[in-house]
Amino acid sequence: MKAKELRQKYIEFFKSKGHAVIKSAPLVPDNDPTVLFTTAGMHPLVPFLLGEAHPQGKRLVNYQKCIRTGDIDEVGDAVHLTFFEMLGNWSLGDYFKKEAISYSFEFLTSPEWLNIPLKMLAFTVFAGDQDSPFDDEAYHMWLHLGVPEKRIAKCPKKNNWWGPAGQTGPCGPDTEMFYWTGGAPVPEDFDPDDNRWVEIWNDVFMQYNKTAEGNYEPLKQPNVDTGMGLERVTAVLQGKSSCYDTELFQVLFTELDSIRGLSAPASRSNSERITIEHIRAAVFIMADGIAPGNVDQAYVLRRLIRRAIREARKLGVMEHFTQKLAKIVIDNYSDVYPELSEKSQFIFDEFAREEEQFAKTLEKGTREFEKLIEKVPEHIQNKVISGKNAFFLYETYGFPLELTEEMASEKGFRVDKESFEKAFHAHQELSRKGAEQKFKGGLADHSDDTARLHTATHLLHQALRMTIGTHVEQKGSNITADRLRFDFSHPDKMTPEQIAEVEKIVNDAIKSDFTVTCNEMSVEDAKQSGAIGLFGDRYGEVVKVFSIGNFSKEICGGPHAQNTGSLGGFKIQKEESSSRGVRRIKAVLTQQGK
Ligand code: ALA
Repeated sequence: MKAKELRQKYIEFFKSKGHAVIKSAPLVPDNDPTVLFTTAGMHPLVPFLLGEAHPQGKRLVNYQKCIRTGDIDEVGDAVHLTFFEMLGNWSLGDYFKKEAISYSFEFLTSPEWLNIPLKMLAFTVFAGDQDSPFDDEAYHMWLHLGVPEKRIAKCPKKNNWWGPAGQTGPCGPDTEMFYWTGGAPVPEDFDPDDNRWVEIWNDVFMQYNKTAEGNYEPLKQPNVDTGMGLERVTAVLQGKSSCYDTELFQVLFTELDSIRGLSAPASRSNSERITIEHIRAAVFIMADGIAPGNVDQAYVLRRLIRRAIREARKLGVMEHFTQKLAKIVIDNYSDVYPELSEKSQFIFDEFAREEEQFAKTLEKGTREFEKLIEKVPEHIQNKVISGKNAFFLYETYGFPLELTEEMASEKGFRVDKESFEKAFHAHQELSRKGAEQKFKGGLADHSDDTARLHTATHLLHQALRMTIGTHVEQKGSNITADRLRFDFSHPDKMTPEQIAEVEKIVNDAIKSDFTVTCNEMSVEDAKQSGAIGLFGDRYGEVVKVFSIGNFSKEICGGPHAQNTGSLGGFKIQKEESSSRGVRRIKAVLTQQGK
């Protein structure tokens, strides 16, 4: 079965069980600073998992684009990817363990669907601990469906617990499904530590909300959140030991072979895998409007592209190649993700620019790097590249720290990361927020401070359009309980007068004490009504439109203040470049709630 058919079957199956199909959300979460990228299908659904009513109902299904940068160093082995698609179904306070498990069982084993023989499958359930008891219900449900006892393992939180996506939020025990990839004979017993048993699906039973204090509070509504990795399951169903052996990647290898002027080798090297995997991920990130840069998502994107280029160099590819691979990705996925073809020119241009820039400095930087290495005598143990030198490579040759680290480790060196960070912050005042760093705020945070900052962001957006023009469009927004950050399209640095004007307009709107109201409507009606905001790919969906008096009308997921009078004073702290053609404002509210 090809990936395309698996995607369709999954959707079809859950539609037949009363699930509404929702669109894949963008890879870059709208208004959620807890993560840089969407890491699972549940992530854009957090407000609904916390109890807000979803406009499409209580049973949902989709395929979701995901990026997990935590896995970047593992890419190249048989199973790890930075970009992947997750098939998922959700119950928002509707069905729970029994139905979720029986749906999973039916989809996997029924001849009408995946038709996987039961003897190829095994299962884990949560064993229980001080936070939550043994998942007796899940265990007995699998038994009831005919799974032999030996094929159900009871595992601790480390294995059978999911979430929250940030530090706080919905979470709970899960039950995972495994497929035997080790060939004949299939063992009767199930050892979850034997990696020939490959996890293919995860049903999470979201019963708790983890609070900032680390407590597990029962959720108002228990939910089901499931996730099946499309690439991995495609491989398993095709009897392949690696997702790189499926058609999803084979077309990219073929293109890489033709760029290299080679015929297909018998097996693929890590460099080949990394090259094509990173280009595929980069295409998807760019299709969501991100260009390579030095902060946040833009930095991850730059890192992926530069790492791909460097791996391709190892394979002897000296000419520009990224656009050729990007074209294959776009051609292969645009029917499912139309944003790829819609953004194709932007994607090609940005690849060309980045490749050009990096190619110019790669050789020189590598020579500098070699010099640094040569200076250290052979016999010295614990060879270190100082933070100052790593920063020099970063600043002068555009070497991401991770690239220097990787090159260093190939030569038996390590990089003094701590002093690199110091040099980095002192010289640039740039903040590169790692995916591992979490911030208070985000979709799961409905605190009053956060709500007020959401409302202030709408006022700012409107004030910018009034001051510098209606070409201003939101390019990103990131709100914590302490500050807002707003990225918008504008080619030039704002003048001090423009900044003062924007502050004044926002503060006047706050003084006017406008009421904030929310209406749900179709995207088409929202546009008709003159609402601004990120419409994204939401055609046909119901959205929320927040009106602030007659001052602003914008689509948004909330949360918001009830009136602007509660916002306090609005102050812009910084106006800077975010990426080409995009400016970034950081602003705060002073004396909130006064
Ligand atoms: N959210 C769950 C996962 O990613 C389903 O595994």
